[in-house]
Amino acid sequence: MKSSSECNMGRSVGVELPRRGFDHVDATHDPGFFLQYLDQTRMLPALQEIEHRIVTEVGSVGATRIVEVGCGTGELLARMTPTSGHGFGIEKSVVLCEAAQRRHAAHGNLSFIVHDFLEGPLLSSLPIQRPCDALVINRVLQHISNPRILLANAARCLRAGSLVILSDVDWSRMTISHPDTETTAQIIGERCRARINPAVGSALQDLCGQFCLGHSRVVADIQNEITEFGAASNILGFRRSLDILVANGTVTEAAASAWTQRGIETSAAGTFRSTLFHRIACATL
Ligand SMILES: C[S@@+](CC[C@H](N)C(=O)[O-])C[C@H]1O[C@@H](n2cnc3c(N)ncnc32)[C@H](O)[C@@H]1O
Repeated sequence: MKSSSECNMGRSVGVELPRRGFDHVDATHDPGFFLQYLDQTRMLPALQEIEHRIVTEVGSVGATRIVEVGCGTGELLARMTPTSGHGFGIEKSVVLCEAAQRRHAAHGNLSFIVHDFLEGPLLSSLPIQRPCDALVINRVLQHISNPRILLANAARCLRAGSLVILSDVDWSRMTISHPDTETTAQIIGERCRARINPAVGSALQDLCGQFCLGHSRVVADIQNEITEFGAASNILGFRRSLDILVANGTVTEAAASAWTQRGIETSAAGTFRSTLFHRIACATL
């Protein structure tokens, strides 16, 4: 099943997404995989653009105290936080939080705190003495069963007038240009089922609006486009989907192999294209 093209790409993620995902990084058999995955996806032009738009938005309101929930390894927080300010990265995974602490040890104005934001706190139990000016949640809500609980908990770190930025994808709007449309539809369906909250990207403006008093708006809609089949397969998880669809009998082994082969061929011919819809929305608390 594994194609040579998938194995040989320097910029691809060389391993499959483990069965449990970003909702339980530390419980997976290889938490280090997620470090590698975050590092590689962050290099994608669309992800760079998303981070740039978030940094610009935070900068436009002059926020100096910033809290990021699900900060991963902390690169976005480091970019967003002015040297005169303080950034608080809240991260459920001990492995990712420790990586963030190591990577940004030279920045005394960044704090990385292990905490599950679905489980409470409460502000009093976190070392955030004063309310923050901005809350950022990027690529996290798709992994969360109840975003409203997470937002309500995170709001305890804010004040009236704080900026709230939510940013995520809608897997149900993923497109894959592939001649076998039937198997393609099965793969997209499986990718959605693999996420706890697959379509949250399209719901972000409403979520912001329900949560904040201020008018909510879309900051940007960005298409993450990948035109190299092997990269798309690894980053978007096609190969994993096919394994699951074959295992549960939805797709035959032969159809899965043929789908992969046609994908490699269309990629070589320059006609392969996959897109993942990503939205950034914001509002004022
Ligand atoms: C896809 S990663 C995104 C990381 C980072 N925001 C980025 O864009 O590079 C999702 C992150 O959310 C974290 N996460 C998931 N559930 C969480 C929760 N309940 N509280 C805090 N962090 C959580 C995961 O551990 C992971 O680091």
